Amino acid sequence: MPEFDPGPTGAFATHWDNRPNYNSVKARFRMNWGPIYYRGRLDGTARVIIIGQDPAADENVARRILVGSAGQRVQGFLRKLGLTKSYVMVNTFLYGLKGQIDAEAKTISASASIKNWRNQLLDLLTTGQTEAVIAFGAGAQQVVDLWPGASGLFVAKILHPSFREDGPLLTNWNAALPGIRTHVTPDPGVTPDTTPYGSKFKKNDLADIPPPDLPFGVPKWMGTGDMAWRTSPTQIAWKSLATDG
Ligand code: URA
Repeated sequence: MPEFDPGPTGAFATHWDNRPNYNSVKARFRMNWGPIYYRGRLDGTARVIIIGQDPAADENVARRILVGSAGQRVQGFLRKLGLTKSYVMVNTFLYGLKGQIDAEAKTISASASIKNWRNQLLDLLTTGQTEAVIAFGAGAQQVVDLWPGASGLFVAKILHPSFREDGPLLTNWNAALPGIRTHVTPDPGVTPDTTPYGSKFKKNDLADIPPPDLPFGVPKWMGTGDMAWRTSPTQIAWKSLATDG
């Protein structure tokens, strides 16, 4: 696997080029950074499909989804399944949502143009190797409910990594992990981390975004830590990364 993601080709590039037009609902979205499409494997080797919500600042810069704090929490969750590469991630929405997943956002998500296009995308991502679909958060859970292709697949509906309180979030994730593990084959040479989460996220519970998930030429710090950590004057790690970044 190259140490960067060369980007989509073929059916994925065409489908993303034909994305739905968000103009009529643009008041609810941060349109300026454009659509952010995915992260992970598009070559048919993904065995787990991850569904998130919508991109934020880190994703805008990286041009891949789930790379900031929420993404690093998801990456840590995947480590607990023994997955370091055989996954692909898409969001409910292509653009950053203003505000929360509320009734209006759910109506937008269920509108024909957005829903049908997204269902086609999820169909494209599904292969004979798909072992599980993991929906993180209320928006993503609605996505699987609206997707006919989900029937017959193992689906886990769990809380979003940015859920406001660590305690209930990590209890929810701890409860879901054993069931998901029975469906998901770890990547070769990777042992699932079966240590349960505690009551709060620790730094070790987050995993860096693997370089093969990021585009060519990004600085080394991308996909590691958060803004507060990266820019703290006391962070030796940031300083050493910055020397060649
Ligand atoms: N949260 C999500 O659900 N998706 C992203 O891409 C970033 C944060």
